Amino acid sequence: MTGNLGVHRFRAVSDCTALIAAFFGDKKEDKVRLRLKYRKPTTFPCNAGSRFSFTALVWTLVGLLLVFHLVSICHKDNIHHGEIQSRTSGFLRRPIYHELEVIEEVKNINIPPPRGKRSSRAPKRKHHKRFSPIIEEFLDEDSQLRHVFFPNRKNSIDPIGMTGNDSSYYFPGRVWLDTDGNPIQAHGGGILHDEGSETYYWYGEYKEGPTYRAHKKGAARVDIIGVGCYSSKDLWTWKNEGIVLAAEELNATHDLHKSNVLERPKVVHNEKTGKYVMWMHIDDANYTKASAGVAVSDRPTGPFQYLGSKRPHGCDSRDMTVFKDDDGSAYIVYSSENNSVLHMGPLTENYLDVEDVMKRVLIGQHREAPALFKYRGTYYMITSGCTGWAPNEALAHAAESVMGPWETLGNPCVGANKVFRQTTFFAQSTFVFPIPGHPGLFIFMADRWNPSNLRDSRYVWLPLIVAGPPDQPLEFGFGFPLWSRVSIYWHRKWRLPSGWSTLR
Ligand code: GAL
Repeated sequence: MTGNLGVHRFRAVSDCTALIAAFFGDKKEDKVRLRLKYRKPTTFPCNAGSRFSFTALVWTLVGLLLVFHLVSICHKDNIHHGEIQSRTSGFLRRPIYHELEVIEEVKNINIPPPRGKRSSRAPKRKHHKRFSPIIEEFLDEDSQLRHVFFPNRKNSIDPIGMTGNDSSYYFPGRVWLDTDGNPIQAHGGGILHDEGSETYYWYGEYKEGPTYRAHKKGAARVDIIGVGCYSSKDLWTWKNEGIVLAAEELNATHDLHKSNVLERPKVVHNEKTGKYVMWMHIDDANYTKASAGVAVSDRPTGPFQYLGSKRPHGCDSRDMTVFKDDDGSAYIVYSSENNSVLHMGPLTENYLDVEDVMKRVLIGQHREAPALFKYRGTYYMITSGCTGWAPNEALAHAAESVMGPWETLGNPCVGANKVFRQTTFFAQSTFVFPIPGHPGLFIFMADRWNPSNLRDSRYVWLPLIVAGPPDQPLEFGFGFPLWSRVSIYWHRKWRLPSGWSTLR
């Protein structure tokens, strides 16, 4: 993809006027120049005695309008939310994000030569090669590159033990410890900013116990333990609040029986009822139940009461999320029709059920792991392809309404190297969290799944910034792209802008 090239290109653009050239692309600009070169001179009526050219007048007006529109866009950009912006690096950017927008390269990874003894899966892989060699290497638990993707425990992010230079830094892919010194278990998760308690809550799949296959061709799995919940005031130090929705040990017919599947839990707060509502993907070990489950609690820390599951709109539902809009309406978004289409539908007012209305979007595109967010009235979404636990390329999408139509903007990943960008940094989207007080800055939350030991799956959190025109403006409103560029910047280590408002 052209992700980072696009960024380089737009960084070279020096002001609003140059944006016009950027929008039209270099080739078009050349053509315009050529056309101008061989055009007869145009004269205006104010020049007494010359010929009147109506076309020239129209083009001048259009040009003026364009410049006026761009200048007003840039001006709006400058003053929006009182942000101070600078032109120092060419493109209009917020200096506070400068550090986050640095493009950090990663050397290409050399695949080690085959060794005498490989993993038990290696000979099998020869016959069933599904992925590129580097992804095969990533999936091989005995790979010599294991430490690249899954750094060992001694490199953990340990907010209690870490001081000095690494304090407050995220290290994508490293083991991340909670305040008790245990690895955080909140996979396929999402964050709730609870205004009442002024606390962030991170909910996700609590993966423990051995990874196994229910049958030979089944996906790698762990038994359900439940939904883990962690609380934080600074989005870096997380306290374990326990299992807020637990597996059912005995009743084998229960949705939450440990032999089933509970994935991608997301919690939203309903201001009208005061309840915390959790939606999640509920399935059997073969992923044939394909349902969405719902649970409710009076408190963010649970316990959540499980209310049951259903196939929303009568359709199969696998990877899913919920999205709460600023007006208090909430939506369920799920992969359906055998993961070939995304379905979007509003939840009922109390968030405990789905309305009958539903829209099919990204039809036939086979996207999953949806993560929605909103910026300046536009809805954005990151999705992954459908390759099970193996990583694949992310795409960003945009829409004027949650219900679509949705337009695909391209791969949002910037920096690292091509393989990293084509594998979402060897991870899969789960949630995009807006940083309070920093419009346009989000945390992109993704899971680096470890299919040979799922409980050792890692978190890849990176800054996501919505700014500037997209690489390929697809949809135009009055000659201008409606969407901004969505960029997820690779960083070996990074932290939120210093002085961002942490909660007390
Ligand atoms: C992925 C999905 C995960 C999990 C996995 C099982 O496609 O995003 O949440 O269901 O498949 O193989």
